[in-house]
Amino acid sequence: MKIDVLLSPIQTDELYFTGKTTVVIDVLRASSTIITALSNGAKEVVPVGTVEFAVKVSGGIFGGQTLLGGERNTKKIEGFALGNSPSEYTKEIVSGKSIVFYSTNGSRAIVKAKYSANLFICSFNNMKSLSDHLKKLNEDVFILCSGNNNFLSLEDSVCAGMLVNELVSYNNQTELTDSSKSAMSLFKSFGKNILKFLSETDHGRLLISNGFESDLKDCAELDSTKVIPFYSGNTLRVLK
Ligand code: MLT
Repeated sequence: MKIDVLLSPIQTDELYFTGKTTVVIDVLRASSTIITALSNGAKEVVPVGTVEFAVKVSGGIFGGQTLLGGERNTKKIEGFALGNSPSEYTKEIVSGKSIVFYSTNGSRAIVKAKYSANLFICSFNNMKSLSDHLKKLNEDVFILCSGNNNFLSLEDSVCAGMLVNELVSYNNQTELTDSSKSAMSLFKSFGKNILKFLSETDHGRLLISNGFESDLKDCAELDSTKVIPFYSGNTLRVLK
């Protein structure tokens, strides 16, 4: 099994992912929020690349069972029902609903990887469940970090490194690229206290200053769910 980590989406175009097994990570906060929404019974999450497309999609095809969710500059978008805090996506609000979701980096990274043969979403919340699934699948894995406006983000790199570390400790025949070794080493340096390191990242500090400190706690929870979001037919649903 070969494992590669793309530390930012700018390294690739859409066709790069064709036929691959891809894992998209946006720890703060898109992947954590999507995982929470599906864990709390959302029917599906439809990731989109622009706010305009989110509004267009939500108007038509989902028969009144749609919620618009996501953020721009960390804040809820005007006219959207939900922002990008995992705690907003409660059972009462999302159960049975289709959520059309836009976020600055996360939803756009997912859309970029849409031609993957297998596309999964990862955060600290579903680390064990996803790594167990990838071990069974036994395919080469491409881990795409959503990053921060095309720059590296430490939280996505550390989470990617934790996933690499899980896979390596299971299979010592794993082939690692320079970037997967780098991510693993970042995990070993920063991954001991997830909440502490998240609160010291660039994006963590921005979220705290914008009043979202409690989101960091939700995003730092390790293995809080077994749910693995799987992309098929333009939507993310729970992998059965
Ligand atoms: C993103 O997709 O850039 C993030 O989820 C931003 C955020 O924390 O809201």
